[in-house]
Parts: sequence; C-alpha cells; structure tokens
Amino acid sequence: MAKLKVGILISGRGSNMAALIGASQAADYPAEIACVVSNKADAPGLKIASDAGVATAVVSHRGHADRETFDRALSAELERRGVELVVLAGFMRIFSPWFPVHWANRVINIHPSLLPSFKGLNVQRQALDAGVRLSGCTVHLVIPDLDAGPIIAQAAVPVLADDTDDTLSARILRQEHRLYPLVVRWFAEGRIAIDDGRIEVRDVPPGATLLFSPEP
Ligand code: GRF
Repeated sequence: MAKLKVGILISGRGSNMAALIGASQAADYPAEIACVVSNKADAPGLKIASDAGVATAVVSHRGHADRETFDRALSAELERRGVELVVLAGFMRIFSPWFPVHWANRVINIHPSLLPSFKGLNVQRQALDAGVRLSGCTVHLVIPDLDAGPIIAQAAVPVLADDTDDTLSARILRQEHRLYPLVVRWFAEGRIAIDDGRIEVRDVPPGATLLFSPEP
C-alpha cells in the first residue's frame, strides 16, 4: 500500500522531526517524510533531515505582504512535494486563518501541555506556577485558534517538587517523541475519524490515546 506523504514544518531544533524521521525508516511504518520545510534557514533540524536523506526546503516568512501570502507560499511548497498530512513540529509561526482552512483535518500540532491547559509560550513555567501534579503533551488538529482544535491523543507525566522548566520540558519531550510517531501512524492507517469536531481513533486498544509515564 502507498505510504502517506507527510510534510514536517519546523523552525528550530527538530527533535520531534527527528523522531518522526526515525520512525519512518522502519520498513513497516505506513508514512514517509516527503519533505521538511523551515521558515528559518538556520534551523538546526534542517541538517538533521538532510543528513537522513530527507528533502528539505526553506520558505522564509520574511518579505511577504501579510501572513496569508506566506501561508500560501508554504502551502504551495508542500503541495509541490505531494504532501497529504502536514505535521507541525516546533513551527513557530502563527497561521492566518487561510492555512488551517485550506488544510482542514490534514494538519496536526504537538503542544507540550495537557491542553486545554497552558496554551501559548512558556508552557512549562505556566504549569509549574499553577502547581499542577500532572502535565504532558497533546497532539491535536490545527484550527484557526491557537493551540485549540480537536484532541487526538495525549501523554501524561508527573510534575515533581524539584522540577525546573528544563527538567519538566525534558520529561515531556521524551513522551512527545513516542506520541507523535504513533499519531502519524494512525493517520496513515486511516484510523482517525473526525465527526463534528470530535475525534475517534478507530480500532486501537482502549486507552491507546493516553500514554502515561510515571518515571521521573
Ligand atoms: C516541542 O516542545 C513541541 O511540543 C513544541 O515545540 C517544541 C519543539 O521541539 N511545539 P523540537 O524542535 O521538536 O525539538
């Protein structure tokens, strides 16, 4: 069966991108990474991708009249590569409404909190300041509202008394690297059903859409 063509958008480090590329290297993984596109030419993830033999492109957000013009240029690049699913992995641009509408139900994001708690930036600090005992990450469909959109799956981790932004971030990131390849697999296997803004993941074991890792 043909593999699902995935386009990954990054702006920086690219560790989630690397996890997805790693997963896609298994012969039985049902998705392939058609391209990695960055809005920044100096994103470290670009080298990781090209070293792994994945096509890369830079579409700078600079020099466009407005957000939508940039979004259309980005979209044209993805379409040129035959992308069927757009995966945001540390992509630090806010879209115009045009992009998520154009790619409706075909663009996903990972956010390092248990949404709908702690949207936006400085997410770990928000969680520590709130005193939550549990945090984690969320994979969701992208809609015009920031860090909103139907939730597909989450991974939870404990928040420990002596956590800093960095230690909590690292604990969550390890789970991001498990969760994102799993969700992309479900997309490729046609398991994600979207009904009236709610998501059902079909034919997976009960509880498969919540990972929990109690280890520190
Ligand atoms: C991750 O924490 C992800 O949840 C957020 O941006 C960060 C990207 O990290 N959206 P990386 O570039 O994948 O290492």
